[in-house]
Amino acid sequence: MKRWFKYVRPYLKSFILGPVGMIVEVIGEMFMPLILAQIINAGEDKTLTPAMSIGYAGILIAIVLLMMTGGVAGAYFGSKASVNFAADLRRDVYSKIQKYSFANIDKFSASSLVTRMTNDVTQLQNFVNMLLRMALRSPGMLIGGLIMAISLKPSLSVVLAVTMPMMIAVILTLIRIGFPRFQIVQKKVDKLNSTVRENVTNVRVVKSFVREDFETDKFEKDNSDLKNSGMRAVKVMIYMGPVMNVFMYATVIAVVWLGHGIVLDGGMQVGDLSAFVTYTTQILSSLMMVTMLLMTSSRALASAKRISEVLDEQIDINDENSEFSDRKIEAGEIEFENVTFRYYKHSEEPVLDNISLKIGAGKTVGIIGSTGCGKTTLVSMIARLYDVDSGRVKIDGIDVKDYSLVNLRDGIGMVLQKNLLFSGTIAENLRWGDMEASDEEMIKAARYSAADKFVSTFSDGYDTMLDKGGMNLSGGQKQRLCIARALIKKPKILILDDSTSAVDTATEAQIREAFRSEIPYCTKIIIAQRISSVKDADEIIVMNDGKITGVGTHEQLLDTNAEYSEIYYSQMDKKEA
Ligand SMILES: Nc1ncnc2c1ncn2[C@@H]1O[C@H](COP(=O)(O)OP(=O)(O)OP(=O)(O)O)[C@@H](O)[C@H]1O
Ligand SMILES: [Mg+2]
Repeated sequence: MKRWFKYVRPYLKSFILGPVGMIVEVIGEMFMPLILAQIINAGEDKTLTPAMSIGYAGILIAIVLLMMTGGVAGAYFGSKASVNFAADLRRDVYSKIQKYSFANIDKFSASSLVTRMTNDVTQLQNFVNMLLRMALRSPGMLIGGLIMAISLKPSLSVVLAVTMPMMIAVILTLIRIGFPRFQIVQKKVDKLNSTVRENVTNVRVVKSFVREDFETDKFEKDNSDLKNSGMRAVKVMIYMGPVMNVFMYATVIAVVWLGHGIVLDGGMQVGDLSAFVTYTTQILSSLMMVTMLLMTSSRALASAKRISEVLDEQIDINDENSEFSDRKIEAGEIEFENVTFRYYKHSEEPVLDNISLKIGAGKTVGIIGSTGCGKTTLVSMIARLYDVDSGRVKIDGIDVKDYSLVNLRDGIGMVLQKNLLFSGTIAENLRWGDMEASDEEMIKAARYSAADKFVSTFSDGYDTMLDKGGMNLSGGQKQRLCIARALIKKPKILILDDSTSAVDTATEAQIREAFRSEIPYCTKIIIAQRISSVKDADEIIVMNDGKITGVGTHEQLLDTNAEYSEIYYSQMDKKEA
């Protein structure tokens, strides 16, 4: 509860004024039938004088104005409160997600995080809005109406004592059958969302594999599941309105029938009877509103739970216990000591199996190995994208966990295997590496990564706008920009994860040469599929199935490592063919 109050406190005024406005409206609604009853009574008694008419008209106008003010204020402050509530909540969820480690994100999946931050927060916003408008209004109308009706004619209120419990029983039965069905609908909506999201984000792959039909079938299934479950739920709820109406009119008829007798006997005036009828409808319809409110609240509760899960998630990678939080990476020497790692802690086979290795400062090291053998995982340990399960990773002799995350990651330039650019100009994208970088520094970095060549052919040069994720660039161009972005950081350690796979071999050789001559101090780790990418490295690491099977220069490995020579010759064959 404390969690949610945090989002209420700054807007407490609106949170109070909203319901107050609604109460004012309710009060007006309570008195309106009473005044009308007096007018009708006076008309019936023929005691209505012109002066009284003007008086009544004045009172009616005052009540209407009061109701309008209350209604407008209630709606305005209710909306203001709920919109701000949601905006703050969204902001907190967002900044929490920004702190998430890769492992945290893996746990939820990116698309579920998006749904929680948008859909669920909106669900909660609507609920808060409804709560502010209805939570006092409906019970207020219910109780106010009852008080008015009973004080008008206690004996006639017996009708309500009979019909109300019956009506509540019917509503509860309908809800008990309908609610689980609505929960199923919610699950189906989630399912459909994730299917659509996956398909749309990966639409290129879907198209290139001509899987549209298959994907459409999948969608059709989820869509018709949703439709069917929706129908099942609706089938219960369609009874709600008509059944309520039956109760409402049955009660009204009973009231009029019994009341008519009382009026004829002189026990009640016609105006009072008409007021009683109005209160009856008010009571019964607000009873229905209260139950509806209870129903939506349980839906909102589900959303609140999904949001709480995101906010409560323990961030598994933090630097709270770092011993040398001011230390920066100086030389860039890397050491793995018996590192073991699993993505799923319960799985048997580790992804990295007791790895030990040492990379000297300023060295260029290549990593080669079959797909899925753990190369990306291995380098992820250096920047603490994931934390080791056991063993240690040290940089310049200090455990990576003892650096602050900012200093650690500032010292490491990493080009991920799945490279991503953002909407904005090329220059803006490159300056992700260093906001302060001058134009010269930027162009220099682009030159080293052989990006300058193609950027300068664009008419807008570095001010060329990139579409979402750099859609208007080729794969190789994107890779070269991503390398430039990492270089601008002037990192002590540069990690390229398969980052030149889409760059032609001649350009790749230029990049390698630039690295050698321009950033000799920087420790470079190059993961590659092509032997030619790593052939000239000081050292090449061969990996297989989470283990290191060989370390050495190209020549040494050709002689001693069967796997390496096999890869080498297979690539030679392809070239000759
Ligand atoms: N985020 C993740 N969650 C769970 N398992 C993962 C994750 N990333 C990788 N894996 C698994 O860990 C193993 C090693 O993956 P990794 O990405 O390190 O391989 P890789 O050598 O880089 O392969 P490639 O050459 O294809 O890039 C694989 O079996 C993969 O399925
Ligand atoms: Mg990889």
